[in-house]
Amino acid sequence: MPAIVIIGAQWGDEGKGKATDLLGSRIDYVVKFNGGNNAGHTVVIGDEKYALHLLPSGILTEGVVPVIGNGVVIDIEVLFAELEALQARGLDTSKLLVSANAHVITHYHRTLDKVTERFLGKRQIGTTGRGIGPTYADKINRVGIRIQDLFDENILRQKVDGALDQKNHLLVKVYNRRAIGAEEVVDDLLSYAERLRPMVADTALELNRALDDGKTVLFEGGQATMLDVDHGTYPFVTSSNSTSGGASTGSGVAPNRIDRVIGIVKAYTTRVGAGPFPTELHDASGEWLRSKGFEFGTTTGRPRRTGWYDSPVARYSARINGVTDFVLTKLDVLTGLERIPVCVAYEVDGVRVDEVPVSQSDFHHAKPIYEEFPGWSEDISKARTFEDLPRAAQEYVLAIEELSGARISAIGVGPEREAIVVRHDLLG
Ligand code: GDP
Ligand code: IMO
Ligand code: MG
Repeated sequence: MPAIVIIGAQWGDEGKGKATDLLGSRIDYVVKFNGGNNAGHTVVIGDEKYALHLLPSGILTEGVVPVIGNGVVIDIEVLFAELEALQARGLDTSKLLVSANAHVITHYHRTLDKVTERFLGKRQIGTTGRGIGPTYADKINRVGIRIQDLFDENILRQKVDGALDQKNHLLVKVYNRRAIGAEEVVDDLLSYAERLRPMVADTALELNRALDDGKTVLFEGGQATMLDVDHGTYPFVTSSNSTSGGASTGSGVAPNRIDRVIGIVKAYTTRVGAGPFPTELHDASGEWLRSKGFEFGTTTGRPRRTGWYDSPVARYSARINGVTDFVLTKLDVLTGLERIPVCVAYEVDGVRVDEVPVSQSDFHHAKPIYEEFPGWSEDISKARTFEDLPRAAQEYVLAIEELSGARISAIGVGPEREAIVVRHDLLG
């Protein structure tokens, strides 16, 4: 089973970091292929808790080669801060490889992210403010700065000059901010060049050769299907392809080399930032899920919006990503509920709709149609086999498996590395 993709099947924070960590010891390479430090993955190993943003979660496993692929946008200051924090905790980070083609988040991208959000007012997306959107916009506009540009001072100056020419007009005349000097940006970037140089590689070549040699490569998606720029709830999305296809474009490993796609799905739903969310709860149940599930952003600390499980969203994700296996996380959070509603379809303007509607307005108006399942009160955090789970929990899992378009191969019952019930080997 040489190439496996992990993706978020909802709106992010499903527990992708923990799933990657779980597979870590059987993996040779872990590749981040999209997004940047907008992601936030919390991984709990014994008494230690790690919060990762830019680095793939596989960096926590000894022996794994962590890779930042070409599809990622890199804030170099954040990269070194994260590496240093891990080194200070005794982790070996020396194997990290960074794609020469990955794009660089600069000072002006962060500034533009914040000012454009402010300018949007009520229509704002609620971005993480990390400069993600403006950096991808420059990439598509062909005025981006790539990691390899840091090794050619001349080219770097020309590119930064060119990019700022236009942006300073925007910053000064439209947003009423001070102009940003090309010198300060170039000097800042150059100050990292020599430290970065040993990590920079032709990562597509390295990964394809690793697969040729029979090595196992895990692609770890940031964000999630419903935040994907093509398949998510546009414009309330991030600016990259966080679905499984992004693993190919964001790494240079072809689709026909990918053997398995693992969708991570929470036993309920959360979302950070603005945009449609049919099963959102604005009542005490929503508050209950937030506090019991500790639903506060790893990156921005914002309270996450919460709601019941949405099976049309899971089916949509199964379809768009080609999910072969789901990992259902945070089942333990539902312990103590008498009855658990699950959205099975929507009602849009009086009509039953079984799948996620293609029209954005319809999705905004979609009202969930719920089916209720009996809850359980037993502590499930020590369950390690499916049979260890109380009957009602087993039935909840089987019911949502039936509704979600792919088998549920593992079930998370707590934040710790070992708090998992495995039904089918994820790599077998
Ligand atoms: P990611 O962005 O998809 O990696 O997810 P986050 O790390 O942002 O959010 C998931 C949170 O849930 C983290 O704090 C994890 O430690 C925690 N978590 C993961 N799986 C489980 C689980 O099965 N049960 C519980 N209670 N917490 C979990
Ligand atoms: P992980 O990998 C949840 C959301 C932001 C905002 C939108 C656009 O931890 O699941 P951006 O800064 O990317 O331009 O913001 O996307 N968002 C996430 N929500 N989890 C994430 O990552 C997210 N990364 C971005 O809240 O609504
Ligand atoms: Mg997260």
